[in-house]
Amino acid sequence: MTESDAAAELEYLAREIARHNRLYHGEDAPEISDADYDALVRRNAELEAAFPHLMREDSPSRVVGAAPAAHLGKVRHAQAMLSLENAFAESDVTEFIARVRRFLSLPPGDELALTAEPKIDGLSCSLRYERGWLVQAATRGDGTTGENVTENVRTIADVPQQLRGDAPTVFEVRGEVYMSKADFAALNERQAASGGKVFANPRNAAAGSLRQLDPSITAARPLRFLAHGWGEASEVPAETQLELMHCISDWGLPISADFNRFADLETLLAHYQAIESRRADLPFDIDGVVYKVDRLDWQRRLGQVAKAPRWALAHKFPAQRAETTLNAIDIQVGRTGKLTPVARLEPVTVGGVVVTNATLHNADEIARLDVRVGDRVTLQRAGDVIPQIVGVVTPPEAHAALQPYVYPAECPACGSAAVAEDGEVDIRCTGGLVCPAQRVERLRHFVSRAALDIEGLGAKTVEDFFADGLVHSPADIYRLHAKADLIRVREGWGETSIRNLLAAIEAKRRPPLDRLLFALGMRHVGGVTARDLASRFGSLPKLRDTAVQAASDPEALAELVTVEGIGPKVAQAVVDFFAEPHNLEVVDDLLTEVSPPPFAVETVQSRVSGKTLVFTGSLETISRDEAKAQAEALGAKVAGSVSAKTDLVIAGPGAGSKLKKAQDLGVEIIGEADWAEIVAAASTR
Ligand code: IVH
Repeated sequence: MTESDAAAELEYLAREIARHNRLYHGEDAPEISDADYDALVRRNAELEAAFPHLMREDSPSRVVGAAPAAHLGKVRHAQAMLSLENAFAESDVTEFIARVRRFLSLPPGDELALTAEPKIDGLSCSLRYERGWLVQAATRGDGTTGENVTENVRTIADVPQQLRGDAPTVFEVRGEVYMSKADFAALNERQAASGGKVFANPRNAAAGSLRQLDPSITAARPLRFLAHGWGEASEVPAETQLELMHCISDWGLPISADFNRFADLETLLAHYQAIESRRADLPFDIDGVVYKVDRLDWQRRLGQVAKAPRWALAHKFPAQRAETTLNAIDIQVGRTGKLTPVARLEPVTVGGVVVTNATLHNADEIARLDVRVGDRVTLQRAGDVIPQIVGVVTPPEAHAALQPYVYPAECPACGSAAVAEDGEVDIRCTGGLVCPAQRVERLRHFVSRAALDIEGLGAKTVEDFFADGLVHSPADIYRLHAKADLIRVREGWGETSIRNLLAAIEAKRRPPLDRLLFALGMRHVGGVTARDLASRFGSLPKLRDTAVQAASDPEALAELVTVEGIGPKVAQAVVDFFAEPHNLEVVDDLLTEVSPPPFAVETVQSRVSGKTLVFTGSLETISRDEAKAQAEALGAKVAGSVSAKTDLVIAGPGAGSKLKKAQDLGVEIIGEADWAEIVAAASTR
């Protein structure tokens, strides 16, 4: 792998992981399984290990979780709330123990005791007690700053307002807020009956219930709490994890019934196996077992790496599997025309959930598995999202008698040719907006929560309205007020729901430009890219004109490619989108209905914008951190080492090898005073 491939992949991973963090922590709406998420994080770590100098400022290994949601007050944690390193195989556990031993220089015969307890699938929360009284509760947020959920946590029966006995003056108990499986099922039933939000899993239900602005809603939700550690403490009245957890239990907080100490690897792993075998019967969801070095003095010496302690490890459970029969393969057409095969299965229970569908991803996957309708298949469900088929278990003769699956060469929705583009595995419908499936998917995307977020216009409603000709394109949504009579005659639509729907639509006549761009559903333009485009172009007509021009004018294309965060592939996708006459029509029509307020366009222009800088030697008037912040504010990137990609080196006294390398490479070198001038020049503009 070349360095530039690695850098590109790291950039992709940083964005993608940040997006999934946001979905998981900020919106309680994960799109991928925990296992897939873990795979992204692992891939990122692998690349960073192979190319340490490419580690990004925004590397996922430096940040935990997602930034706190805006509506609840913020709390800065007195001590960061960390995350855990994951292990999947037993060898990862052995390696962890060896690493700890090495770090502590423990002689081979010396005992290294570890505690083990279930890893609860909830959301972590820090409860601050002062003089024994609960004074504050906060979610983890990004690890440094969380949300203030004090009043909500006060409604949780497991959490005492006052600690028993003589607890330290200040003590933060940390643990997991969760919902039991039974309570989750009952809540969802109630929610469904009352037309409220139905949650995907207990974890999301717990998160959604805890992060309410109105504590009386939280009070009505059956939340629970289990302590697993602590944060700031004026005193730590114990020498081991085990003893301190027992103190916490004595003070009145619940701790796991399966929390114990183990002196060697064998008993530790036996405990893991024992917990795993009871997993389905436990009243709450767990996704692994957490090991912690028992001695607290050793925990202190071990300290932490980027975001996780060196003294703890989460040993995850493998995904749950089951066998069933494949009844049919259906093809779904996505908003960009991508055909996705979906397996229709004989219903089967996997890890307590009845599964009837699984994704088959793409044609390659079907070919790789050689899966045929009628086959017995192994199904895997990891975390809470779409299950996957991992293999065929039909006896060979029976399998051979089945018809191999033939991937359609035509779009099942519109009959247009379905083809794979050069170098792509995905097969796409070429029908563009002639294809009703793509059109309806685009409309759904347009109104979806991440895009324009029009309340009351759910996926099903969009589909029905489209099928009955009420809306064909995004602009039609804004004209629904003229069709109120046609809505009124539909089943389930009363005056109030119509009024609410029309009000929700009116409320989105001035959508933020980045959301509008995202809502258009251009290929490769996700939320972050949409923001980059919005802040660079400032208006939709400006972007449209540049993109249209770029089809024939390399200079205009260059203008697109030089947008921070946008590479040739994205630029081409934007150009392609506007090269489609129908899309231009849709956009221009839409612009007669909506008018996004001007988007705050990046204004700092400086001679270092977009450049890569390296600071070396000592700086005299400002700290290195401040210099770096200044550079970033001017739109420059700061790198740790000099390479052919370096544009400018700022060298202070004592600069050594980096300066030499810059000289060898002929990179421009300036001093601290010159740097101060660049900063001053930019800020007076
Ligand atoms: S210890 C310093 N113990 O898992 C280590 N965490 O993936 C902090 N979790 O943020 C966590 N059960 O929300 C610990 N028994 C347990 C846990 C546990 C669940 C959560 C916790 C943490 C996340 C890390």
